[in-house]
Amino acid sequence: VNSAVEVITDTAQMQRRAVKERREARCIALVPTMGALHEGHCSLIRIARERSDVVITSVFVNPTQFGEGEDFARYPRDLERDVARAGEAGTDIVFAPSHEAMYPRGYVTAVAVENIAEVLEGAVRPGHFRGVATVVAKLLNLTLPECAVFGQKDAQQVAVIRRMVRDLNFGVEIVVGPTVREADGLAMSSRNVYLTPQQRREAPVLYRSLQEGAAMIRAGERDPEKVRRTVRQAIASGSSSLVQYVSLADEGSLEECRVLSPGERVLLSLAARFGETRLIDNCVEDVPT
Ligand code: PAF
Repeated sequence: VNSAVEVITDTAQMQRRAVKERREARCIALVPTMGALHEGHCSLIRIARERSDVVITSVFVNPTQFGEGEDFARYPRDLERDVARAGEAGTDIVFAPSHEAMYPRGYVTAVAVENIAEVLEGAVRPGHFRGVATVVAKLLNLTLPECAVFGQKDAQQVAVIRRMVRDLNFGVEIVVGPTVREADGLAMSSRNVYLTPQQRREAPVLYRSLQEGAAMIRAGERDPEKVRRTVRQAIASGSSSLVQYVSLADEGSLEECRVLSPGERVLLSLAARFGETRLIDNCVEDVPT
């Protein structure tokens, strides 16, 4: 627990501080967030705490990863509460830059990760991962961490960031923390607050349907389409939500499986809309040999 959290908003100050920590041989871990911290974020901060001397949690609602008509304007923001929560979970420094500091006048550079950023979430949210990759690249350059911790809930984000880090030689270890769930299985998300009581009651169907699909894989099903269909039907019959996609893909390349090959690690993922609110969830399975 760290009650004396330091808040840095200036980008140059953040980078100078990171350089100093590294020069003094302290190991830095970064937990990038958009704030609205919940138990899922706190679990990532605790992982970062275990692995480093200095934990930096960034809080920045990044405008460039939101599409037109998405929830940028109404995304929950409460820096004071975030700083308190981040501190309780073990953060030393909250880095909370302004939009102007991150994207000053004249800013024109972006990082585009091709292919794996264009399917699934990328297909439904064009430009989303370009925004994510760019801001994460900037955050890594500003905080110079040895490792950066991300949540498994955003599985495609993890795949995109891993690819970017490898392709652009960032020299940072990407650590992934497990999805934290509410008691009824709903994956924790800052967007869950948008759900109406009725939608909130229905939303755990996403996790239950994933579990049904995962059980089929573990039981030896080799036809991925049967798994996808089962998951889709489970969501449709258990809620009024609109399924955007159900994917069963290779975990690394995110290419849709045509057959489930023994020993393959696969990602079963989905997105569904409850009214205006989009929720995503996933699980990773090893196809039995
Ligand atoms: O996962 C998130 O909260 C965001 O996509 C991230 C990684 C902080 C980039 O803005």
